Amino acid sequence: NWDYPFLYQYQGFWCASEFFHGILSFQRHFQAKDTDILLATFPKSGTTWLKSLTYTIANRSRYTLENSPLLTTASHDLVPFTDLEIYGKNKFSTLEHLLTPRILATHLPYASLPHSIINSNCRIVYLCRNPLDQFVSYWHFISKLQQAADPVSIDEAFEMFCQGVQLFGPIWDHVLGYWKASLEKSNKVLFLKYEDLKEDIIYYIKKLADFIGCPFTNEEDAQGVIQEISKFCSFDNMKNLQVNQTGKLAWVENKLFFRKGKVGDWTNHLTPSMSKRLDNLMEEKFGESGLRFDDLY
Ligand code: PPS
Repeated sequence: NWDYPFLYQYQGFWCASEFFHGILSFQRHFQAKDTDILLATFPKSGTTWLKSLTYTIANRSRYTLENSPLLTTASHDLVPFTDLEIYGKNKFSTLEHLLTPRILATHLPYASLPHSIINSNCRIVYLCRNPLDQFVSYWHFISKLQQAADPVSIDEAFEMFCQGVQLFGPIWDHVLGYWKASLEKSNKVLFLKYEDLKEDIIYYIKKLADFIGCPFTNEEDAQGVIQEISKFCSFDNMKNLQVNQTGKLAWVENKLFFRKGKVGDWTNHLTPSMSKRLDNLMEEKFGESGLRFDDLY
């Protein structure tokens, strides 16, 4: 049961107490392999989509789309969050059974990642999303999970959001941490935007495949493999799959990870004064970084 008030600040980000031990364990004991692929996201930025895409691309020589494990198993199980589960001190042995390359996920800010991730040759794919849509998606998700008699209203949630109070927030710091890392280490960190993927998924599937070291051959391209993967991982296909979900997220119904999957749904929920306030905040936070979201309006 996630409630807004039960967040604590740790290393400059907001953390839920139930994840704290998992995060500490990840930071202290996780050993990255050079072949690992880490999918990093701020919550509600398209994690589930990125997991399906990366898993399907990386494992396409093992599984056809007709026998993909994604047909029966949730992407959150196939690509586990390394920081939300409480893995044993003993070297995260439960992750050893994962196929190579191991595809793992995190919501941690870049600055809080374990040293072995930064120091190894493992690659990081970061997917961000326009904060207006991220906020709306997050609010819907938490509202559905909340069992409180008096759930947090969108106005209250928005106020907290503007103050940076969200799980793993502030969102600005999270996005900027990975943005700067991608500029400094472009071979290690690939920075993607949800909206760009919606606009041209074929281009980004190729880009993702190249980055993780699994490029498509000309033959695959000609056979339409990339189009097939894009359709397989699409919102419309994924939301209808009846899959099992275990682990830390077992209590969350899988269908809650699929709501609308659209760009610009914020226009249906935020008042003009809310969006103006957020525009100003984004200008203030992202202004000098070169990172823009304004091509979305
Ligand atoms: S979580 O809980 O952090 O893992 O959630 P996350 O997956 O990051 O974000 C959920 C939002 O992503 C949308 N979604 C998708 N969009 C496009 N394509 C696919 N395949 C897809 N799968 C999930 C999902 O609908 C949530 O966005 P909203 O705006 O709420 O619909």
